[in-house]
Amino acid sequence: MIRTKILGLGSYVPDRVVPNSEIPYLNDRHEVCAEQQTDTSHEWIEQRSGIRERRYVPNDGSVGCSDLALIASQRALEDAGLRADEVDCIILGSLSPDIHFPGTAVFLQEKLGISGGGCACFDIRQQCSSFVYGLQMADAFVRTGAYQRVLLVGSEVHSHSLDFTTRGRDVMVLFGDGAGAVVVGPVESDDPREGVIHTQCHADGSGAWDLYMKVFEISHAPFVWYDARDREENQTMYPQMKGKKVFMNAVKRMVEATQQALHTTGLSWDDIDWFVPHQANLRINQKVAELARIPSEKVLNTIEIYGNTTAATVPLTLDYHRQQGRAKRGDLVLSTVFGSGYTWGSTVFRF
Ligand code: ACO
Repeated sequence: MIRTKILGLGSYVPDRVVPNSEIPYLNDRHEVCAEQQTDTSHEWIEQRSGIRERRYVPNDGSVGCSDLALIASQRALEDAGLRADEVDCIILGSLSPDIHFPGTAVFLQEKLGISGGGCACFDIRQQCSSFVYGLQMADAFVRTGAYQRVLLVGSEVHSHSLDFTTRGRDVMVLFGDGAGAVVVGPVESDDPREGVIHTQCHADGSGAWDLYMKVFEISHAPFVWYDARDREENQTMYPQMKGKKVFMNAVKRMVEATQQALHTTGLSWDDIDWFVPHQANLRINQKVAELARIPSEKVLNTIEIYGNTTAATVPLTLDYHRQQGRAKRGDLVLSTVFGSGYTWGSTVFRF
């Protein structure tokens, strides 16, 4: 039977490293000011989230979501030994798209030099859960024969839409820029432990207003009704989060999704090599590991060095640990995600 195999993996983070020590002094152009801009500290950030540093793109308007996605995609294609023109479907997850429409996947297609080939392009909007949602789509496409080579990318430029003042500190300190990608394709195999073994997605829209960013409201005329330079009104263009509530729901749903993945596949932690959770907060991942009885040496994190890169976290983290010589081809991976929406889910795949 046809199963879906991970053919290649790649990731990219911008060069600029922003340590916690810089965060209190950054203005909204990411310049380090002499005067403190935000009432926060390295100690608070590291203690509450585990984050020590994150990456930011340049502030000169030269790098958008599709640019980070491009490099991660090229690396995943190279890893798969494929040319870009062999991709017949792109799925791109992001909450920081290049522009409102069209979706960013078509910009990526053009930058990959394959727009003439006419491959299908999907943009998905499941925030931190995009990788699992996208993999479920890609797996279904490949197994039904709808597409043969699917490029699944998560890419985020968060640094340009954060509130670099004390008002926005709860969210601002958590996020970084980066991208991760996989290429999947068909393999003929009767081994139920080959390729993508399990994907399960969930959502609960009653949590939608616990973590959101409006930017505009289409019900208004004009739909951008505020002055972006007005400190009172411009809160609309920044993310808003009920941190404690999101934290508690993330732990609950990620534990459930992890247990569901084990139950559905009949696998145990003796079989699985790595747990790659979404990277929102180290304390969330530690709590999930404790409650779901995941051996701590099997948990792969990058939150400490990349912060939360939303749609990119899972492929970015797996690729980082491959480069460190930990995860390797043939390993069995269980990944669990949770994000805005609420959305959550889990996947098990042989890498
Ligand atoms: N620096 C200093 N103090 C801060 C900061 C900051 N950056 N942010 C908040 N505080 C203050 C608060 O104002 C509060 O002060 P008060 O006690 O005087 O009122 C105090 O610190 C404690 O704030 P809490 O919100 O209770 O802190 P908590 O321990 O809950 O940590 C955090 C906050 C890190 C945001 C946590 O709630 C969290 O990680 N939540 C989940 C994030 C997440 O999972 N997001 C989902 C994925 S993202 C996506 O889908 C896009």
